[in-house]
Amino acid sequence: MNTTQPRAILCRGLTKTYPGKPPVEAVRGVDLEILAGECFGVLGPNGAGKTTTIEILEGLLEATTGEVEILGMNWRQDADRIRQRIGVSLQETELSERLTVLETLTLFRSFYPKGITPQEAMGRVSLEEKANSWVKKLSGGQKQRLAVATALVGEPDLIFLDEPTTGLDPSSRRQLWEIIQGFTGQGRTVLLTTHYMDEAERLCDRVAIFDQGKIIALGTPRELIRTLGAEHVVEFSVDDAQVPQLEKVLEQLNPAGGVERTEGIFRLRVDQLHIVLPELLKRVAAAGLNLTSLTTRAASLEDVFVKITGRKFDSSDAPPAPSRSRRRR
Ligand SMILES: Nc1ncnc2c1ncn2[C@@H]1O[C@H](COP(=O)(O)OP(=O)(O)OP(=O)(O)O)[C@@H](O)[C@H]1O
Ligand SMILES: [Mg+2]
Repeated sequence: MNTTQPRAILCRGLTKTYPGKPPVEAVRGVDLEILAGECFGVLGPNGAGKTTTIEILEGLLEATTGEVEILGMNWRQDADRIRQRIGVSLQETELSERLTVLETLTLFRSFYPKGITPQEAMGRVSLEEKANSWVKKLSGGQKQRLAVATALVGEPDLIFLDEPTTGLDPSSRRQLWEIIQGFTGQGRTVLLTTHYMDEAERLCDRVAIFDQGKIIALGTPRELIRTLGAEHVVEFSVDDAQVPQLEKVLEQLNPAGGVERTEGIFRLRVDQLHIVLPELLKRVAAAGLNLTSLTTRAASLEDVFVKITGRKFDSSDAPPAPSRSRRRR
């Protein structure tokens, strides 16, 4: 992080409790500092508080406590000036279904004093062919791309993208990555949330991993993965009946990175795969055990989450996010 760069986002001691019985403490003390030109990723399982945090930063939700500064301004005094300089794509965008793509972008362009043309915005997300289609008639991925285009049309200095690539096909996803890289390449700032660890690793300069309303890890993807102390992950399993014997084998093997077990899968983190893997297989065979699965892969941000929380990061296991409709601006 180059601290001579101007700051795009600052928040300190942010909390948000949704009233109710019982109240939900969605955000429980978040501090963030994001510099101009950064692509910053917010990661974490369903319900971790990502959308709540981002919507507070966007000025759509009020924090329960804490300070927020956006492009050196605050929402209480400078709301209009902030709005002119940010672009927002919500997790669930409710765009008017009775407008065409072109009309939607023309409308959003009218909110900003400067910007690109609606045609150019359509071009950036490859929706030119749909210019005159009603929003209602767009596919899920096309709607998503239109939502991103509405965030780009005012040529903002800072964009917030809440799960911008969820549901996109691989080529649309790559296209959006390029848009984001082009955007930060001009010294502009992106704050995005994603459930895709590979996406965060490739795209984000820094990431914050959220869990239960708090940041549990913060840094560049490389730094975070390096905290695991090992480059490779070996995962394997045996039939339930053989688990006690396998545990004994692993105890004797005593790998440097330790052994973890989540949901029947044993996991070793190792640096020297070429030494540890043959040794593991030799000892498993000598004990008369049969592996029912064995995979190896490069360590990822997902492993960082598992290491810190002891839980598996698999958003598909969790229930879908609560559906909320909110009108934009
Ligand atoms: N309007 C609301 N009223 C009450 N509780 C809410 C509201 N919005 C969110 N929550 C709760 O706050 C917590 C955080 O939700 P949030 O939407 O911020 O999570 P998230 O990290 O964005 O999750 P996802 O990955 O599913 O999008 C959850 O427990 C959720 O149920
Ligand atoms: Mg969310």
